[in-house]
Amino acid sequence: MRILSGVQPSGKLHLGNYFGAIIQHIAYQDQGEAFFFIADFHALTTLPDTAKELDAVAGKKNKPTPLNQILRERVRDVALDYLALGLDPNKATFFRQSDVPEVTELAWILSTLTGMGLLERATSYKDKIERGLTPNVGLFTYPILMAADILIFRSDVVPVGQDQIQHLEMTRDMAGYFNHTYGEVFPLPQEKLGEAAKVPGTDGQKMSKSYGNTIEIFAEGNALKKTIMGIKTDSLTPEQPKDPETNTLYQLYCLFANAEEQKALADRFRAGGLGYGEVKTMLLDKINQHFAPFREKRKELVARPDYVEDVLREGAKKARAEAQKTMDLVRKAVGLR
Ligand code: ADP
Ligand code: TRP
Repeated sequence: MRILSGVQPSGKLHLGNYFGAIIQHIAYQDQGEAFFFIADFHALTTLPDTAKELDAVAGKKNKPTPLNQILRERVRDVALDYLALGLDPNKATFFRQSDVPEVTELAWILSTLTGMGLLERATSYKDKIERGLTPNVGLFTYPILMAADILIFRSDVVPVGQDQIQHLEMTRDMAGYFNHTYGEVFPLPQEKLGEAAKVPGTDGQKMSKSYGNTIEIFAEGNALKKTIMGIKTDSLTPEQPKDPETNTLYQLYCLFANAEEQKALADRFRAGGLGYGEVKTMLLDKINQHFAPFREKRKELVARPDYVEDVLREGAKKARAEAQKTMDLVRKAVGLR
């Protein structure tokens, strides 16, 4: 079984990314032939907007940070994060998307088979425009490049979060158009959702960078404490009984707790006599316990600057060899060579 997933280098990873995507990615490295990549070509669709936002937040409007610096740092950060969280380059092939330029060739071929209507129905494009991102052509054709990422490795399984399901449907459509038009080349890939498909943020909405409600995986000390203590709660007094199921703190706690601990806390919610301050402290302890070894590992990796680059370069060699095999089939099927 071939497994593939990509992650955008879009800033600091948060608990939603971790429980919704990364945990599954890392577990898959033991279950088949796994490929993971950092989607730097995809990141270009929003890089200038992202840079403007970052500079505005940092108060650096007059002296903008160079875009290439932002992209390089972000790619390196995601690589460090994944390696620290347990991605093992001896088990999985880990690489940068742009190190396999053949994906852009396949994306072009797929684009000639894809109707405008299919892309116009993409909800992620509409969402991004509504959020104020510049509607460039790359943003519109994003799903074609994503389909090329998946199909060029002839992937069977694609672990993703719920928001990516439509992209997988579109990928199967594009594989179908190709197979129908030029002959069977691509297996139809299937998405795999994790258990905790929707992690709530500090305001109770879905955790997302774009809502500014994230809890970062590698935050620690006072910064992390401030975030946890700032989680929005209702105005029930400690004495009043509370419903755990609809409570953000309880939902977050459950991500880290075993069944017994979950039940114990749910019982205390229902019984009354429990203040949110205490639950926040319990949650903070859980987060610190869970991520302590990963934080150490990340610090070790930061101290070995060549290591990450070596891993990505080796990964790219393997990935590119695979991609080239598929492209030979594709070119032959189409009559390009
Ligand atoms: P963000 O919404 O913060 O921009 P991304 O879109 O970069 O996050 O998501 C990267 C991965 O993490 C995707 O697979 C996505 O489905 C998953 N993910 C993001 N936020 C959550 C969440 N709150 N709950 C579950 N999974 C999430
Ligand atoms: N669109 C994905 C996201 O935002 C990232 C991605 C790009 C991806 N190419 C992919 C995920 C191929 C899985 C497979 O999370």
